[in-house]
Formats: sequence, C-alpha cells, structure tokens
Amino acid sequence: MTKKEITQIFHEKFGNETPEVYASPGRINLIGEHTDYNGSFVFPGAIDKGMIAAIRLNGSNKVRAYAADLNESAEFGLDEADAPKPNWARYIFGVCRETIKRGGKVGGFDTAFSGDVPLGAGMSSSAALESTYAFALNELFHNGIDKFELARIGQSTEHNYVGVKCGIMDQFASIFGKKGHLIRLDTKSMEYAYFPFDPKGYKLVLLDSVVKHELASSAYNKRRESCEAAARAISKRHPEVKFLRDASMEMLNEAKGEISAEDYKRAEYVIEETQRVLDVCAALEKGDYETVGQKMYETHHGMSKLYEVSCDELDVLNDLAKKYGVTGSRVMGGGFGGCTINLVKDELYNTFIDGAKKEFKAQFGHEPKVYDVVINDGARKL
Ligand code: GLA
Repeated sequence: MTKKEITQIFHEKFGNETPEVYASPGRINLIGEHTDYNGSFVFPGAIDKGMIAAIRLNGSNKVRAYAADLNESAEFGLDEADAPKPNWARYIFGVCRETIKRGGKVGGFDTAFSGDVPLGAGMSSSAALESTYAFALNELFHNGIDKFELARIGQSTEHNYVGVKCGIMDQFASIFGKKGHLIRLDTKSMEYAYFPFDPKGYKLVLLDSVVKHELASSAYNKRRESCEAAARAISKRHPEVKFLRDASMEMLNEAKGEISAEDYKRAEYVIEETQRVLDVCAALEKGDYETVGQKMYETHHGMSKLYEVSCDELDVLNDLAKKYGVTGSRVMGGGFGGCTINLVKDELYNTFIDGAKKEFKAQFGHEPKVYDVVINDGARKL
C-alpha cells in the first residue's frame, strides 16, 4: 500500500487532519537460524515487503487503531491494565508499554496500518509491525531512543505481550536494514557489518509452503529452553560458557550424560550453525556461491533432523530444489511452516519455479507462493 492510500484510509476513519506515515520491512535470513537467542551470528536483510502506518497524535491518553487489512478497530489506554483483546492490537500496545518502561513518553494517537508481508511465512510480519510503531513513536514523541533499543522494544513486546521468547534478529533487521545489503550481526556483542549482496548470475527466491502449524510459538520457546539447558550443563565444567555460541562440540560431548537426548540434538545443531554462518561470510567474500549454497542445504538438514522445526511441505520444497539443481535451499525463519529460501542460478530459475509449483501441487493440493527477494531499507518515515 502507498503513503497516499494509507493516508486516505486514515482520513476515512479519523478525519481530515494529515497524519505522518512510517514504514518498516519484514526480513529474509541467508543463514544463521535459531542462533540469535544463543548469542551467535545471524545474516538477515530487510525486504521490500513490510508494514505501513499513518499516525497522528490525538492529544488524549487513548490509542485508536485500525487494521485496514482486517477491517478491525481497537481502542485502548496506555496503562498495563488496558491491554487490548485483538492480537494485532497487542503488538501496538506492547510497543507503547515497552517504550514507556524505558522512560519514553507515549500519549494517545490515531493510527491506521496495512501490510504486505505474508502472514505466517517466516518473513517477520510481526517485527515489521513492532518496528514501525517503535520507530514512529520515538520520532513523534521525541524520545531519542537509539536504534538498538528500538529493536529491543519490539523484541520485548514479543516476550511480554505476545509470549514468544524470540531473539533480536527480526527486529534488528527491520530497523537496521539497508538497500542491497545483508547484515551480519553478532547477537552477543551486537556488532554488525553490512555486506553488499548482489550475486551475479543468481537469484534469491522464497517458496512459501502456505502452511502454518499451530503451536509454533510454544515449540519455539521449547527450543530455546533446550538450548539454555545445554548451555547450563556445559557451564558447570566451563564457567565461561554463557551461551551455546561459546561452546564447542567437545564441550557438548562432555556434558552429554547430563542432558536429554533431545537437548543434545538441539545444541548440536546450534553449534554447527554458528560455524556455518562464519563459513558463509568467508565464502561470500570470495564470491564462492557454491559453498554458500552447500551450507544452506546443511542448515536445512540440521533444522529438519536435529532441531526438528521443518515439516513435510518444507522438506519436499527442499528436495525439489535439490532435484532441479538449485545451488542452495533451506527452511527460513523459525520454521514449523512458512518458506524455503533458495539461491538459484539465473538459467535454472524458470524450470525450477515451474517444476516446483507443479510437483508440490501434485502432492499437497496447492501451489507454493513465490516471492523474489529484493533487499531494501529498514524503518523509515515516508
Ligand atoms: C523467529 C524469531 C527470531 C529467530 C528466528 C529463527 O523469526 O523471531 O528471533 O530466532 O525465528 O532464526
């Protein structure tokens, strides 16, 4: 939706005064999955799909919000007891509360928003929503909160108002995104570096299975608990290990008898994935996309067999990528449905997409959706 369109919707709902318009993107992640709550590395980029919101301060202490895509409204106050019922409104409420908790000022406002990040596709529509409001409220109320803290406001919203104990990757990418660049983020030190990403001769494309498994958020939280249990067991012998990022396979093996077989598998995946992100960075610097692709396949295997966050649909999409000679492919994001991200040679693109659509449909009764990846800027005022 354009600035003009959301402004028009705002006028229909809230009158003639002119709102400010803000936008924040969803994200892709080249590699480094389920590593961001283990103090490890991620490699995301912001995309050309996101949320757009028209906002105007209304001088009261009430927020009046309109979700244009759902045609639903909500009105709520800014105290903890005022939490709204609709899920989507809890994100906005959470951002207000987390801003206030950090000493920021937030007063009443009217807002209409819309988004084009496919929901449940693993492209972080929720982070896009959080970042839009975190960024906008910071500007509109002149709070001067830095960009890292804006990302944390979104993350804490997930933790405290949505119930997902997520890492920082999605909100970070949504705030810090830069056109044409992926960002390697060290989630322990929060150091980051922009990598220009324009693989000549290749395309990045997402294949959306259009399945979203229920209970994804409790399964996500459970994965995190497994990682924390493994890190705790390792730290008994190695007190310097705070996160799995600091652990080696050798250390994990020493602690094997003290953790469950399940926790062991989860930790093994995270330790291997940490190394894969570094390998991919090194390969990218040499323009070695074959290695990048190989690592993506290894990540898929780990996410499917060790971390167990894949599903039949995603495994089939991954097999199809292999079958059609795609350079790299893997489930992207939290898992339990959503997309695969595929690094495809230009000359194979059409055959792969056509073939994958047809064969996937034959098995599951519907085609996967296809999104070409365009790496774009992060949160901004329009
Ligand atoms: C979700 C979370 C992120 C990250 C990914 C998996 O998108 O919000 O913090 O953990 O899953 O890499």
